[in-house]
Amino acid sequence: SPLDYGISPENGFLSPEPLLESLPDPYYAKWEAIAANLQPLLLSKRVRSLVDRLPTLSTSYLNTDAEWRRAYVVLVFILHGYVWGGDRPSERVPPQLTVPLFEICERLEVPPVATYAGVCLWNYKPLFPDEPADDLDNLACLQTFTGSLDEQWFYLVSVAIEARGAPSIPLMLEAITAARAGKSRIVTECLQRLAEIIDEITSLLERMYDNCDPYIFYNRIRPYLAGSKNMADAGLPNGLLYDDGQNEPEYRQYGGGSNAQSSLIQFFDIVLGIEHRPTGVRKDANANYSSDDAPKTRNGFIHEMRAYMPGPHRRFLEHIDSIANIRSFVESRRADPALRLAYDACLSMLRAMRDKHIQIVSRYIIVQARGARKEMQSTTTQETAPQNLATAVPTDSKKLRGTGGTALIPFLKQARDETGEPAIEAW
Ligand code: HEM
Ligand code: ALA
Repeated sequence: SPLDYGISPENGFLSPEPLLESLPDPYYAKWEAIAANLQPLLLSKRVRSLVDRLPTLSTSYLNTDAEWRRAYVVLVFILHGYVWGGDRPSERVPPQLTVPLFEICERLEVPPVATYAGVCLWNYKPLFPDEPADDLDNLACLQTFTGSLDEQWFYLVSVAIEARGAPSIPLMLEAITAARAGKSRIVTECLQRLAEIIDEITSLLERMYDNCDPYIFYNRIRPYLAGSKNMADAGLPNGLLYDDGQNEPEYRQYGGGSNAQSSLIQFFDIVLGIEHRPTGVRKDANANYSSDDAPKTRNGFIHEMRAYMPGPHRRFLEHIDSIANIRSFVESRRADPALRLAYDACLSMLRAMRDKHIQIVSRYIIVQARGARKEMQSTTTQETAPQNLATAVPTDSKKLRGTGGTALIPFLKQARDETGEPAIEAW
């Protein structure tokens, strides 16, 4: 049952319990004080000195799941503020953050970086708790870097998408059971409904434009979401040194927050039998790679992102991977046009969603990076150019990276094209 994986029928991968706006135990007051004042502290570049003055707090006063999640949210926001909130990034993470964060991450089974879970899944509240979370009017954010509506909106669009997509989970489990029993009509109905849900998600995705300004996103918000992988241009060539105050720290690299870590979207892919390959690898490609484009992993970035999902969600996807049968069911029923049509509708809706997403990436990143480069060129002295990620724009647009660390457009276009690759070759 999905409940065993921390997934609820109403909320899907969002937290099943209400989230906390602050930790109840006054023992954590100093963490909450920094979190509550993050925006002015970042603007005045005081996060580092305040964190350096913190005592290293114990996790033993954290009790409920909601408290552990709140602690994770608070610490990853402070962490990213610490790393990116100065003239240059700090590659050392002090013990005051490292020690409690590692314990919290072990317990929640997430990496010590601001993941999608930290900024979206566990970082919202419904304004009217008795009303649904799939309505953007009913949502607020618990924590931001900038205090801006733009940043809240950026996270809340994803929250609404997760909530709207939640019913697809029981729905597609029903479809898998029905396919096993050969009940074609039920599978067809489930697929029809899934296509509608994906279409609704695309409509929510397009609401990004309503309240998240691309300039603000690119220049004010996005720099804080960066990880420590593929971040040489932003001034972190080796990653981060998480100092626990005891052992000689070693460099670690983590991708930053990205919706590629959304279990919901990967759930759609898995349930529909869509396969994603490493960027640059074509379908049926010969497995002998030469040159430096050789993929580092067999599965590619999208699969790699599962390591950034909360453990139970990752295991849920693995389980679905092992039972997914819809595509082979559709393949085995070529003579059933309604079934085939419903399956194709899901593929084309998902592909349309990825198309709209590429348009967003182009407006929010590609166009903005071009603008930032122009600004740089017209700036005469190095000193006036801030050193953070936003303006550390590579001179070559091919070197642009997503916060997750991908080469953006080639990666996203391939993911879209793989969505269109029909399961059933002869159609
Ligand atoms: C991946 C940008 C909003 C879904 C990515 C990537 C970028 C990106 C650059 C590549 C991975 C990386 O390196 O980070 C953006 C921007 C957004 C935005 C600029 C808004 C301003 C969303 C939303 C969704 C979404 C709201 C929710 C459906 C995905 C998915 C991937 C992805 C599923 C993985 C690639 C795939 O499965 O096709 N995004 N994204 N993104 N994004 Fe977004
Ligand atoms: N993954 C998104 C980006 O690269 C947030 O900007």
